[in-house]
Amino acid sequence: MDRIRIVGGRPLVGSIAISGAKNATLPLMIASLLTDQTLVLDNVPRLADVGLLQRILGNHGVDVMVPGKRPGDTPDNGHTLHISAARIVDTTAPYELVSKMRASFWVIAPLLARMGEAKVSLPGGCAIGTRPVDLLIMALERLGAKIDIDGGYVVASAKGGLKGGEIRFPKVTVGGTHTAIMAAALANGSTLIENAAREPEIADVADCLNKMGAKISGAGTSRIAVEGVAKLSGARHSVLPDRIETGTYAMAVAMTGGDVLLEGARPELLQSALDVIAQSGSEVSATNQGIRVSRKNGGIMPVEVTTAPFPGFPTDLQAQLMALMTRAKGTSRITETIFENRFMHVQELARLGAHIHLDGETATIEGVGKLKGAPVMATDLRASVSLVIAALAAEGETMVNRVYHLDRGFERLEDKLSACGAAIERISG
Ligand code: UD1
Repeated sequence: MDRIRIVGGRPLVGSIAISGAKNATLPLMIASLLTDQTLVLDNVPRLADVGLLQRILGNHGVDVMVPGKRPGDTPDNGHTLHISAARIVDTTAPYELVSKMRASFWVIAPLLARMGEAKVSLPGGCAIGTRPVDLLIMALERLGAKIDIDGGYVVASAKGGLKGGEIRFPKVTVGGTHTAIMAAALANGSTLIENAAREPEIADVADCLNKMGAKISGAGTSRIAVEGVAKLSGARHSVLPDRIETGTYAMAVAMTGGDVLLEGARPELLQSALDVIAQSGSEVSATNQGIRVSRKNGGIMPVEVTTAPFPGFPTDLQAQLMALMTRAKGTSRITETIFENRFMHVQELARLGAHIHLDGETATIEGVGKLKGAPVMATDLRASVSLVIAALAAEGETMVNRVYHLDRGFERLEDKLSACGAAIERISG
């Protein structure tokens, strides 16, 4: 298993190209199941999760074609996928595949909408809390699906097709909103989704679906209206930039000091996080090429932050912010309201010398003068990258084990950081 070795203490200087968003790519690939024509996705990041979803879709009969290199291609260009679900040969998504990636549960919506049936394994346990799918099931039932749970599978059917309806989410859910939109796109009649998630990835997927012929309005707000259509067609769509990758590198610069241009990043996708980074003492400015982050003199200031659905501070940047605050001049408080049990990074950050006290959903972080390198390991994607951020500022060597978590969500992380002067390398095997 690969490991990443980091020797801390160098400021980051240069530029980092921001990849396409993982959390838009996955539902966009799943949306290909809604049409028998080809969906072309550009700016797709090269990530382990994308490869895994390719396999999952392959099981339903989907062909994914990746064209060869073109003149002018660089490793920084995302790649293009041609996805064709001309014939769906299997409406079952087995446990062995769904258990590896939660978002693959979302195939239930397009399979049901197009084929009138789907049998999808419940995702099972997850390192960051229970993460149930009750609200996704509720949304499908509101559109007329009959749902049974049998042998660990959700068995859904809609004999005469799905019917438009009203869905009011009691809690903001990204997966629930994606599911509701995809199912409603091919339902008979109109659907209103209330208390919808407002994450930019929802609007990006809706945008693509509209290019495919769907009639969706209000995506990006908490009230989304969908007028069902009988059929969707192919389309071409470029994935929006990854706001979590952007925020992660912004915090790495805030942590080490330095000056980095995050190329292609869009400030409106993560304004709340940029505000927090600015409050912590870094300079953040929007340029026509992206976002520039720098910290020259002065230290890191403590902050108080509570995670919230978009446009609030994202839970997917909580671990990275905590890493940054381990070096703040004073006491910070971070409250996690989206996921229970999303503090696994605390114990590992402590191995580097961080002082963090947990009380329920709030972490109190006493900034320390220095961190010291150590072997560490993490159990989820965002937690792993928080350890990388801490290691970049720690004295001496840190070895980050179980790198496959990073490969799930960060494209060429060690290349991007070492190009800006970090001492970071992957050790294979
Ligand atoms: C998505 C993101 C993930 C991010 C999360 C919150 C993708 C691929 N993943 O995950 O990176 O951290 O949004 O921004 O886009 N809930 C229920 N019942 C349900 C569904 C969710 O109670 O049926 C709860 C969850 O346990 C959680 C909250 O709702 O407490 C939000 O979860 P949700 O927004 O659905 O997260 P995901 O879509 O799984």
